[in-house]
Amino acid sequence: LIAYFQPKTLSGRQVLITAGPTSEKIDPVRVLTNRSSGKMGYAIAQAAREAGAQVVLVSGPTALATPYGVNRINVESAAQMHAAVMSEARNSDIFIAVAAVADWHVANASDSKLKKKADGHAPELQFSVNPDILADVAGMVSGPFCVGFAAETENLHQNAEAKRQRKGVPMLVGNLAQQAMNADTTELVLFSSQGAQALPVLPKLDAARRLVREIAQQSSTPHQ
Ligand code: CTP
Ligand code: CA
Repeated sequence: LIAYFQPKTLSGRQVLITAGPTSEKIDPVRVLTNRSSGKMGYAIAQAAREAGAQVVLVSGPTALATPYGVNRINVESAAQMHAAVMSEARNSDIFIAVAAVADWHVANASDSKLKKKADGHAPELQFSVNPDILADVAGMVSGPFCVGFAAETENLHQNAEAKRQRKGVPMLVGNLAQQAMNADTTELVLFSSQGAQALPVLPKLDAARRLVREIAQQSSTPHQ
């Protein structure tokens, strides 16, 4: 019911969101992944939809139901997420990168199951770097207004503001990884060219609604 009372601050706008982990194949039965439940990204998708946006959610593997009225595209690897995002980004006004994207994939992934070796040795995995989805969208000519996320384990303020500038995005949302992981509440800090703004500890949907209001405001005023 509360959804009906949300101000329609994103009316008629196209919002693209990534959420969840990515999953990188080691062999047909094993993967390399990140710890992410997807809860925050899905809450933001719901909040953006409540605010009147058309929402596309590019999601890695999660156990969550698709929020009402949200268009969901399922992916597994970072490469698949990158491809899905790049084909949607051109039609988007706002891009919110919430996914915990694997920084590397296994370069020597196997098409058949790796077997335990008789000599007791572990297999040697080699890694290659994945594309940086947020940086690629942020680098588009007249691309969408970009919002990044950073789950840090320490020095949140320094790390997050440095990351915002390095990624070249107008807004970056920071939180402490240990607190946010799989929890139903979160404590966010919003970093933009206007400085840092700390939100209180809130249920993820309430935090998402606050964030969406802030994004609506900052994306409609000239930024840099
Ligand atoms: N991100 C992305 N594509 C990647 C890696 C990260 O889109 N290949 C996005 C995340 O969704 C998040 C932001 O970039 O919005 C920051 O991710 P993070 O992992 O904190 O940044 P990295 O640049 O990968 O730095 P590091 O992991 O070394 O802290
Ligand atoms: Ca990373």
